[in-house]
Amino acid sequence: MPARSVREAGRRKFHGAQVLDYMVPVSYYSGMNFSTSAHELRSKYITFFKSKDHAQIQGKSLLPDNDPTVLFTTAGMHPLVPYLLGEEHPAGKRLVDYQKCIRTGDIDAVGDTSHLTFFEMLGNWSLGDYFKEGAIRMSFEFLTSPEWLGIPVEKIGVTVFEGDATVPRDEESAAVWKALGIPERRISYRSRMDNWWGPAGTTGPCGPDSEMFIDMGKEPCSPECAPGCSCGKWLEIWNDVFMQYNKDPQGEYKPLARQCVDTGMGIERTVTILNGKQSVYDTEIFTPIIAAVEQAAAYRYGSDGEQDKSVRIICDHVRASTFILGDPKGISPANIGAGYVLRRLIRRSVRHGRKLGITGRILSPIAQVIIDQMSGPYPELGENRSWVLAELDKEEGKFLETLQKGEHEFEKLLPNLQQDPRKIMSGRLAFKLYDTYGFPIELTEELAAEQGMTVNRGEFDEAFKKHQELSRAGSEQLFKGGLVDQGVMAVKYHTATHLLHQALRMVLGNQVAQKGSNITAERMRFDFSHGAPLSTEEIVRVQAIVNEQIQRDLPVTMTVMSLEEAKGSGAIALFGEKYESQVRVYTIGDDARGIFSKEVCGGPHVEHTGILGSFKIQKEQSSSAGVRRIRAVLE
Ligand code: ALA
Repeated sequence: MPARSVREAGRRKFHGAQVLDYMVPVSYYSGMNFSTSAHELRSKYITFFKSKDHAQIQGKSLLPDNDPTVLFTTAGMHPLVPYLLGEEHPAGKRLVDYQKCIRTGDIDAVGDTSHLTFFEMLGNWSLGDYFKEGAIRMSFEFLTSPEWLGIPVEKIGVTVFEGDATVPRDEESAAVWKALGIPERRISYRSRMDNWWGPAGTTGPCGPDSEMFIDMGKEPCSPECAPGCSCGKWLEIWNDVFMQYNKDPQGEYKPLARQCVDTGMGIERTVTILNGKQSVYDTEIFTPIIAAVEQAAAYRYGSDGEQDKSVRIICDHVRASTFILGDPKGISPANIGAGYVLRRLIRRSVRHGRKLGITGRILSPIAQVIIDQMSGPYPELGENRSWVLAELDKEEGKFLETLQKGEHEFEKLLPNLQQDPRKIMSGRLAFKLYDTYGFPIELTEELAAEQGMTVNRGEFDEAFKKHQELSRAGSEQLFKGGLVDQGVMAVKYHTATHLLHQALRMVLGNQVAQKGSNITAERMRFDFSHGAPLSTEEIVRVQAIVNEQIQRDLPVTMTVMSLEEAKGSGAIALFGEKYESQVRVYTIGDDARGIFSKEVCGGPHVEHTGILGSFKIQKEQSSSAGVRRIRAVLE
């Protein structure tokens, strides 16, 4: 699958990834105040496109299905790639939605007044229905009609693709804009760097785009200043992409059998511009979140540069974390993949909380505000409220402890470090902080940067790699000496563990994740994330599902594949686990009878579930905060 949905060749700026590029003096915004809230903009957009015969479809999970190339959904078109490539969409040829997105490329830049990790994208699509003219006419009407956004036509400028050796200049789009009243001087022809959207990876749907900008009223920076210029006069709010090609693995652009339109409007960015604000943090989207941070920190936003930055980081990161945890496919903080990004977001928030003088826990009250604000358009946040809050609380608590120890150790090292005239901290020392105190390298780097120092990252990475190899060898030994030696019963319990894991996910939801397991020849114990005791009814259902799979005598098969492929195929991998690049995937069930479970696992397992006998849950109890433990036997 393609769909690394970022610009193929060009700028990384766009939508929420960077809301505004630069500080623009307030005076430039005179006349731009349409008082549009995020909720209003979202609902106007959907209503408008529904009135144009678009079917509203559900935005999808933040954690993409079947796309191992990215950790998060990065654009509204991302879940729609198969349809852009030709599959029929059940809802028809005209679609509209709002989609939660995360872009982590600029995570370190968050804290300025413009970057965000989480953002919402509005989009409308034509799957082989209207093309350039239809898309542009509708965009124009939504932007300018007094019934919708009512932006004066004189404030709108556009860019179109200037053409190159492979694709001709987009005269068609320019002609439509002209016919709608946008004069030639506000139409700017730009290169592939600016006016092309496509996969950053190897293959996928792509094509020229036409972007819409608002004139902020500033004097042109030069005679060449035109829409697309980055001086601050023109701010981009919408992008109409004309998907005409599929880039194949050879790098060739093959015309798509069916031409499609993909558009994207970042809500946060657009609300900022429409309200004449300098920063997204000055909009109604962020003011309640900032207020929650202010309250926790007894600090007033706007008083100080560095501390304000910490407030912004906390707001953005807690917002992103709340959406990741609150996703129907919610995941827990972990040491790999999306779970690692989540862990980093939470940990960075905690650390910046401490910069504001906060020593206690603050994340869950802030998340409450975000859930209250956003669970209208995203009901999953409300439904998963207790899970989200419990997970935030747990990770925050754990990290506060780590921090205290790590910062203390760093301070002890400081006098020595400061003597190095090159101001470089050795990677071995940084690794020691990581290894002994669990202090993440990113934070060591931040602490070092605060002291005007850098960390020798190459040396750290080397030490880290060695450590990984050693611990892997260690766990293989453990495995050989443990499970295999326990014989047939342990192997049966091991397979029962997979059945139980899946049954729990079916009864309690896919956010359930294995936290640990312990097997002897007599019984199994299974720890998993869940915020509340199981009801008797839930226990009975879980048990019944496991026994049903045993009675069906499903085959258990093993395939070796790359970790990416495994995840792409939907196999469950345990968070926090370090895997080889080639892994074994155990599948219970088959295509004919349905696949019941698929997990990355070292094995061994039984060959048929039928020999497991009868599965019985003996006990269900708490193991630690947010983690339940089941003890079960095979009889
Ligand atoms: N997919 C296009 C974008 O995100 C619309 O800019």
